[in-house]
Amino acid sequence: MKFIQDDFKILYNREIQNGFFDILVDCPSIAERARPGQFINVLCGEKPLRRPISICEIDKSAGSIRMVYQVRGEGTEWMSGLCDGGTINLLGPLGNGFNIPAKSRGMAVVGGGIGTPPLLGAAKQYLADNSERSCTAVLGFRSAAAVILEDDYRAVCDTVVTTDDGSYGRHGLVTLPLEEQIAQGGIDVIIACGPTPMLKAVAEVGAAHGITTFVSMEQRMGCGVGACLACVCKTRLAGEEMYSKVCTHGPVFNASRVVW
Ligand SMILES: Cc1cc2nc3c(=O)[nH]c(=O)nc-3n(C[C@H](O)[C@H](O)[C@H](O)COP(=O)(O)OP(=O)(O)OC[C@H]3O[C@@H](n4cnc5c(N)ncnc54)[C@H](O)[C@@H]3O)c2cc1C
Ligand code: FES
Repeated sequence: MKFIQDDFKILYNREIQNGFFDILVDCPSIAERARPGQFINVLCGEKPLRRPISICEIDKSAGSIRMVYQVRGEGTEWMSGLCDGGTINLLGPLGNGFNIPAKSRGMAVVGGGIGTPPLLGAAKQYLADNSERSCTAVLGFRSAAAVILEDDYRAVCDTVVTTDDGSYGRHGLVTLPLEEQIAQGGIDVIIACGPTPMLKAVAEVGAAHGITTFVSMEQRMGCGVGACLACVCKTRLAGEEMYSKVCTHGPVFNASRVVW
């Protein structure tokens, strides 16, 4: 697999919600190769381990990559201090990305919290690839204060927002609106990214309706390129259980292959 490692110019790095940042990087060599669902390993100051951040959007003609990240610890805190016009060292694109069947005509996108960014670019690409396609999004957040990218999604597709505490949008989990969307018909593929319990629940809904479901898994990572085995998750193939590397075999898996 070919990937790029270099310093790139930051076009902007701004806070879009309390503790959530949106960064746009001028990196034509990465943008040219990148696909929705892949991720970038970001060098964060003196930290020996890079931090994996998903690609939110790719603009191949402008040569830029957008990422949306939440400040969780020292690495992402360091990223949040980067200035417009400065440089950032990126390694990527990494991972497999979404591989949606060409015959698909209706997709449901299910994002939870900081799992919503990687699905935005996937939804845009899905619609751009075929004008006969439709797409709906169900986005779940803890509370109103954690809602991100709602306007970005609404500009692309029908969007339902849920919150766990009912402080914004619909009260409750993403699975109920997802079931409602499926009941309306036309959905033949589901893609999801978010906390593992949400992914498992979405996988169960997809399986119950016989809809192909792809999940983007998150694991703590070391190298990000398949060398250290820090990121393995349990999968199955032809009835055999095995360990797969989220960084290279994933992060996107057919949900039927994941051992929850
Ligand atoms: C493939 C992939 C894509 C990702 N995409 C995004 C993204 O688009 N936006 C974003 O904000 N974050 C994303 N993450 C999570 C992000 O990598 C971590 O939040 C980040 O590495 C934390 O680094 P830190 O130094 O700030 O915090 P650390 O001090 O390293 O960790 C702080 C806390 O964050 C949590 N954490 C750290 N790493 C992970 C992880 N890999 N998965 C889940 N929780 C973690 C742990 O609870 C930990 O206690 C992604 C992770 C993976 C594996
Ligand atoms: S992070 Fe090293 S093998 Fe996946």
